[in-house]
Amino acid sequence: MPDYTHVIDGLRGRRIVLGVSGGIAAYKSAELTRALGHMGVDVHVVLTEAGARFVTPLTFQALSGNRAWSGFLDEKMEDGMPHIRLGRGMDAILVAPASADFIARLAAGLASDLLSTLCLARDCPLFVAPAMNRQMWENPATQRNVATLQSDGVTILGPAVGEQACGETGPGRMLEPEVLCEELNAFFTPKLLAGRKVVLTAGPTFEAVDPVRGITNASSGKMGYALAAACARAGSEVVLVSGPVALPVPVGVRRIEVTSALQMRDGVFAAVMGVDVFIAVAAVADYRPAEPAVHKIKKSGAAIHLELVPNPDILAEVAALPEAPFCVGFAAESRDLDTFAEEKRRAKRLPMLVGNLIGDGLGGDENTVVIYDEEGRHPLPRAPKTFIARQIVERIARLLPTK
Ligand code: C5P
Repeated sequence: MPDYTHVIDGLRGRRIVLGVSGGIAAYKSAELTRALGHMGVDVHVVLTEAGARFVTPLTFQALSGNRAWSGFLDEKMEDGMPHIRLGRGMDAILVAPASADFIARLAAGLASDLLSTLCLARDCPLFVAPAMNRQMWENPATQRNVATLQSDGVTILGPAVGEQACGETGPGRMLEPEVLCEELNAFFTPKLLAGRKVVLTAGPTFEAVDPVRGITNASSGKMGYALAAACARAGSEVVLVSGPVALPVPVGVRRIEVTSALQMRDGVFAAVMGVDVFIAVAAVADYRPAEPAVHKIKKSGAAIHLELVPNPDILAEVAALPEAPFCVGFAAESRDLDTFAEEKRRAKRLPMLVGNLIGDGLGGDENTVVIYDEEGRHPLPRAPKTFIARQIVERIARLLPTK
């Protein structure tokens, strides 16, 4: 099971109908059901007849904890009008996979089975994740149907381009479950940073000692990536300048990959001019070897000395720009958090700084932080980094000067 912890819980408590039509990608909908359940979503699965041939309603029932419906007049239907009742009180309908046939039926406004009837009788947003062979997708009839759905206000998610079950390669793959979760999540997140541009740094830096060795630190990048995702979800344009980490690029984020502090500084300055917010989450190495060896350093019995020179302070440089963006720093301290964090905020002239004690957050999925700004200190309860990220975004949006 992939890690879905980067998806914040804007989905918690939502009620969603997951429609499954006939396509091999239906096997991924089982995982999608589980992922949505983990996000706290109450999932009600409705399969078309063809969908139920790929994966049985029983599977979805077990994974969602709710009765899974199929066809039109399900034999197990106890009360009348499920096609109306099921849709009421729902926050969204997501059809994934949506076959070419199902998209055509939706576009024509047909009510030939329970799922299409639910879609026609809905009073909530409808999301459609197409999945089909690339030629079926590119066919003018399908494109016409998709355009019709879009002009009817339906959101089309994907399809992705890649290898297909039929052996061909091209557009038509259903988006992965975590991407679909993220898209739904973004939909339910208030657009607090709409029209804003944000640049972030994240992860460690790696300062070469020789071609194979270097100086780095234990930063996982999780906090910075969670913040980048939260900014994108909140409607801003996001550039993430990232040191070496093993994390996927969040949806809606442009990533610039760097290794050393000097490269990170170049990446930041290439992106930061004219942006509204700069958030420095990266654990930048304070020092780098003065002259990295060109060849691998050979072992000998003698002690060796490494000369280290200071790296530029990227955040301080950005904060000192004539038209500096709203700058947010991070500080990890091993003691006296309040004193050191507030000192750091003032020294770097930052409107906002997020502090945490080392051991509370480094490398893990959770963190305990305190936000420091001109209005004082604001401790946040211990929470997953994704929640913390959302609260930081809310605070930034509140303090950001209006345009
Ligand atoms: O001074 P200290 O390294 O503790 O400050 C931490 C903050 O400054 C973080 O926001 C970090 O990303 C940023 N920083 C930076 N460039 C450096 C060192 C720290 O941007 N060389």
